[in-house]
Amino acid sequence: MEIPVNSWLNAINVRHSRRAFTGESLPEDKLHRLETIANEFKPFRGARAVVVKDPPENVFKGAIGSYGKVKDAPHFIAFIGDTSVLEVQEVTGYLGEGIILEATSMDIQNCWVGGFFRREVVANIAGLRPNEQVLAITPIGYSLEKKSRTEKTFSRIVQSHKRKPIEDLLLESPQTYPYWIISALEAARLAPSAANRQPWRFLIEKNSITIRTDNLSDGRWVSKRLDCGIAMLHIELGARVNGVEGKWKFLSKPYVARYSVS
Ligand SMILES: Cc1cc2nc3c(=O)[nH]c(=O)nc-3n(C[C@H](O)[C@H](O)[C@H](O)COP(=O)(O)O)c2cc1C
Repeated sequence: MEIPVNSWLNAINVRHSRRAFTGESLPEDKLHRLETIANEFKPFRGARAVVVKDPPENVFKGAIGSYGKVKDAPHFIAFIGDTSVLEVQEVTGYLGEGIILEATSMDIQNCWVGGFFRREVVANIAGLRPNEQVLAITPIGYSLEKKSRTEKTFSRIVQSHKRKPIEDLLLESPQTYPYWIISALEAARLAPSAANRQPWRFLIEKNSITIRTDNLSDGRWVSKRLDCGIAMLHIELGARVNGVEGKWKFLSKPYVARYSVS
């Protein structure tokens, strides 16, 4: 599938996690479109997505009390990784974010949920194959017009609207670099991450951006490499909107991947 660069990049700028929904089902054509994307968007081996149209009620559970709890979502999408693939976290992040951005571009609200859902329930519905695990899910639906009190509290706790300045994310960089790199970094900076921890750091070279994690710990509930997979897609969109096509190479820890243009 060809990535719709412009519409996904626009979606980056309007996407925010939403956790309280109206309960109203999405129209069949929107669900069908998401199922088509889930079937056709296969950027890397090792990840897939399943749209669950009629979930049971007990899929989401709150973090502490009801913080982070998802309410009245009519459907969800499961992001499933094949744990026999070394880069399972990164490829699942990249794939999942594509589907999240497609949903956003269709005015469907969503929220990556990596920690607080009932894995055994989702695993049963999704029908896991050998070596597969559900790494995250997202509710999909129409959110309440205004944020619920719980949503506001959660956003405040994790300061979900804040992003680190680019300078704090750069490991090393030349004094000047081309516009596509600025555009790619700006898109990466807006990526969502678990608890908004923004664990990505960037090494800029003349024709490449390398992502690594902020330190050697991999995150307690959700792998930082999943967050970095999300940032990979954002980098690529920010580059490609400037007509710059590159290639990804996965790297070993603590590095994640390098996007190089020739
Ligand atoms: C991989 C991943 C896992 C996440 N897990 C949860 C979760 O378990 N519960 C939750 O309420 N939010 C979760 N979030 C949402 C983040 O808290 C949110 O993306 C972040 O605070 C930034 O806010 P924004 O998405 O509105 O930009 C997760 C996000 C990512 C990327």
